[in-house]
Amino acid sequence: MSSPYLTLTVVALTQETTDAVTIHLEAPGRQPIASAPGQFLTLILPCGPGGKKERRAYSLSSTPSEAPRLSVTVKRVVGGLVSNYLLDTVRVGQQLEAMAPLGNFTFSPNSGTARSLVLVGAGSGITPLMSMLKAALRDEPRSQVLLVYGNRNEESVIFREQLRQLEAQSGGRLQVEHIYSQPTGPVAAHQHVGRLNRTMLLRILEQRQVPPAQAEYYLCGPEGMMAEARSALELLGVPESRIRRESFVAAADSQETAAAQPTGHGDVSDADDDGQLVTRTVTVNYEGTEYQFEVQPSQTILEAALDLDIDLPYSCQAGLCTACRGKCLSGKVHLDEREGLSDAEMKQGYVLVCVGHPMTRDVVIEID
Ligand SMILES: Cc1cc2nc3c(=O)[nH]c(=O)nc-3n(C[C@H](O)[C@H](O)[C@H](O)COP(=O)(O)OP(=O)(O)OC[C@H]3O[C@@H](n4cnc5c(N)ncnc54)[C@H](O)[C@@H]3O)c2cc1C
Ligand code: FES
Repeated sequence: MSSPYLTLTVVALTQETTDAVTIHLEAPGRQPIASAPGQFLTLILPCGPGGKKERRAYSLSSTPSEAPRLSVTVKRVVGGLVSNYLLDTVRVGQQLEAMAPLGNFTFSPNSGTARSLVLVGAGSGITPLMSMLKAALRDEPRSQVLLVYGNRNEESVIFREQLRQLEAQSGGRLQVEHIYSQPTGPVAAHQHVGRLNRTMLLRILEQRQVPPAQAEYYLCGPEGMMAEARSALELLGVPESRIRRESFVAAADSQETAAAQPTGHGDVSDADDDGQLVTRTVTVNYEGTEYQFEVQPSQTILEAALDLDIDLPYSCQAGLCTACRGKCLSGKVHLDEREGLSDAEMKQGYVLVCVGHPMTRDVVIEID
């Protein structure tokens, strides 16, 4: 398998809003890099204390059809290490270390399919949705896309002009509903004032005559918005299988949720397999090599591996992005956070090693 690491050159920058910039990147020799709409790049930047390398995930706002260009759009987070470093220092011509695109929050266009896509996002959550909507408009000519997009005001809308143009050129296939919590100017048609909450989403879906149970939903935004959107879809009877979501930030209460749901397979019979956090040896299979190492109670499986210079794939280190996803073939693993995994993945025994702790002595994990 080829190395998951890339050196990318910044070939252009687009200032989207006062606090968001799109960074356009290319590999050496303009070599195309495989990606899917909804995937993210992991940027690795020497901006930690003492030049320590920090990794952060940034969703691709570009589509595969824009190859060899890969674009990410970064929004400043107040007090944030990497977002401020990037916004303040990134320059055309600069080289950035990255990991190849990863992630399972993906949309796969199919030219023969006619479907109704509903994309619900707020703030920087627009980035993967932008890639998906461009791919759907281009590669699925019979599909309809509704974007419901929440922001503070008109000036904070990332891709505002691009969305206006795409909507105008789409022949009615793309509809964009903007929601402003604090608008600064007069509010036009298909613009709403308030929060992107359950009531607002229900009203828009009804106005736009979306067939609720037949549409496919992609959600990306802050915790509160995602919870409101899920509640609206639940009320409409939308099956879970039609809802995909991605979080950029860990939810405050998700540790408890995950604590109640240890995952994995295998019998628990040995004396030390009592569900306590103790030092245990785990086996991880990755790229044809079997690694066996001890995990202390204070460590996650990923932290223990990295301490031993075992180069497992990872990005967010917060259980959100699924870069470190593996399948638990034996034993039980406790997850501090499970936001990145669907219920179906949990049932199949998938775990995230960045937030995983072995709970039995026979844990074996296979990472794709
Ligand atoms: C799968 C995935 C895709 C992502 N895609 C994008 C993207 O396309 N564009 C983008 O701008 N960001 C994206 N992010 C978020 C990004 O990875 C960083 O978390 C973000 O830039 C903040 O990093 P930082 O180093 O500046 O802040 P840190 O120094 O890591 O954090 C500082 C504080 O800000 C909080 N915080 C972190 N992120 C956010 C946030 N997004 N909103 C509000 N508070 C936050 C933290 O909890 C912490 O308290 C994505 C994250 C994931 C997991
Ligand atoms: S590194 Fe992102 S989920 Fe584990």
